[in-house]
Amino acid sequence: MKVAVLGAAGGIGQALSLLLKTQLPAGSELALYDVAPVVPGVAVDLSHIPTAVKVTGHGKDDLGDALTGCDVVLIPAGVPRKPGMDRSDLFNINAGIVKTLVEGVADHCPAACLGIITNPVNTTVAIAAETLKAKGVYDKNKLFGVTTLDVIRAETFVAELKDLDPAATHVPVIGGHSGTTILPLLSQVEGVSFSDDEVESLTTRIQNAGTEVVEAKAGGGSATLSMGQAAARFCLSLVAAMQGDNVVEYAYVQTDDSDDAAFFAHPVRLGANGVEEILPYGELSDFEQKAKESMLEGLRGDIKLGVDFVNG
Ligand code: 2OP
Repeated sequence: MKVAVLGAAGGIGQALSLLLKTQLPAGSELALYDVAPVVPGVAVDLSHIPTAVKVTGHGKDDLGDALTGCDVVLIPAGVPRKPGMDRSDLFNINAGIVKTLVEGVADHCPAACLGIITNPVNTTVAIAAETLKAKGVYDKNKLFGVTTLDVIRAETFVAELKDLDPAATHVPVIGGHSGTTILPLLSQVEGVSFSDDEVESLTTRIQNAGTEVVEAKAGGGSATLSMGQAAARFCLSLVAAMQGDNVVEYAYVQTDDSDDAAFFAHPVRLGANGVEEILPYGELSDFEQKAKESMLEGLRGDIKLGVDFVNG
C-alpha cells in the first residue's frame, strides 16, 4: 500500500503521519507532501522510527512523485480555525488548496481512495467530487469526508458520562462535519439510556467539540492530535478493508439519497475499491429526526457552495 498525506507538515499532518508510520502494515510506503519547506525534515525525522514503512518527503514542486502509485490519499492541508471562526470561514483559502491538490490526484493517481480532512469538510468534499468529475475520473465510491473525529469524540463523551470503557463504546454519528450538521445517534448506543437533558447536552457538546478545542488553544489552531488519531483510524480501517478485512466506519460519502443531502455521513462497509456498501443508519428518535430535518437545508447549502466553486 502506498499512502500519501498532503499537508503532512501541519499539525494534523504530522500527528497523522506519525501514527501511520507506526501502524501501517509492514511493506507500506508513506509519502509526505507539503508546501512548507520543513517537509523533508519531517520525513527524515519519522524515517528514524524502526518500522517497515518507508517514508518519503516531497516539497511543493514534487506533488507528482508523492502521488504516483498511491492507493490512498489523505488531505489535511489548509488553514485551521481561530477563536470566533466557524469552519465555513475557512472556505476562501481552503477551497482553492483542495481543488489544486485534487487536480494532482486526478493527474497522478486517479484510482486512489481519497479522504478529505480539510475544512469545511461539508463543502470541500463537494469541491473534490466536482474537480474529479471535471477531469473525468470521479468514482463516488472512492471519495470520503473524514468524520471519524465526531465519532471518537462522541464515544469519549458518552463513556465519560456513563462510566464505560471508551474503547468498547460505539456511537453512530451521521450528517456532516460542522455544528448542527453533526448528528450523534445516542438512541442507538447499546446498553445505555439517556435522559432528555443528557441527550440535549451531549449532542450540543459533540457538535461544538471542535470549537471547544479552538477556544482552549486560544489562537493556536484547532484540533490536531485527536484529528490525527481519527484520520489514522479511518485510513487504517480503509487499508485493512482494501486488503480483505470486513470493516465498517462512519464517513461522509455521496449517497444519492434525495431525502437527505447529496453527501451525508453513513455507516459504510469498506472494501477493496473503497465504499463496498452504504448501510442504512437505522431508526431515529423524535429528537434526532427533528435535528436532522432542521439541519438538512444548511448541509445542502454547504454542498452547493462547493459545486458552484468548481463549476462557476
Ligand atoms: C474539528 O472538528 C478540526 O474540524 C476539526 O476539530
